[in-house]
Amino acid sequence: MDPTYNLNGAFKPTVKRNADLAGADFFPTPPWATHALMENEPFVGDTWECACGDGAMAGVIEKYSKRVISSDLYDRGFGDAGIDFLQAESKRPNIVTNPPYNAAQGFVEKAAELAENKFALLLRLAFLEGAGRAKTIFTTTPPSRVWVFSERITFYPKGARRAGSGTTAYAWFVWDKSHQGGTELKWLQPGYRKKYAG
Ligand SMILES: C[S@@+](CC[C@H](N)C(=O)[O-])C[C@H]1O[C@@H](n2cnc3c(N)ncnc32)[C@H](O)[C@@H]1O
Repeated sequence: MDPTYNLNGAFKPTVKRNADLAGADFFPTPPWATHALMENEPFVGDTWECACGDGAMAGVIEKYSKRVISSDLYDRGFGDAGIDFLQAESKRPNIVTNPPYNAAQGFVEKAAELAENKFALLLRLAFLEGAGRAKTIFTTTPPSRVWVFSERITFYPKGARRAGSGTTAYAWFVWDKSHQGGTELKWLQPGYRKKYAG
């Protein structure tokens, strides 16, 4: 154990999501992380998983949402392939996804344009930082709620051997068109990973 890492004595996590900065950034989301959102945020009407990968997130959303529409820029064997969300024009009641790391801001801006009720994006907690975003989206379109994970999410590339745990903090960023007032900061209680084992 590295005593400098963590004052509460937790083990140092060993795995980082090595974002595929130039590429498609395909990292399926462990189901428990999507359950954590869906148990806390109701979505009324259809939900669009607009970067669906192999359907890891869509499969959980459909347990809670009326209907899920799934698409991805690439063909992952699930949903409609060849749809670039950043160029999309169809409006939908809700949008939920874990966007590619290198296009997170573009996904926020596009989802703000296309989601009629609510949209939720799984993003690094550090997305809150940054002078550029402070002057742009966090001024014009601040999230309604930020749900911080108290358990670390471990992302593995599809088919990779599973070992270690994540080193990056994530949160669900939710924009709710019916929300009034400033951004609410909330914490997801521990236990989702065990409850939905994975
Ligand atoms: C981090 S993975 C997440 C996959 C899935 N949302 C999940 O949570 O399991 C990001 C996905 O975004 C897709 N993607 C990348 N650029 C995209 C774009 N411009 N439009 C739609 N999908 C895109 C990738 O192919 C990849 O499947």
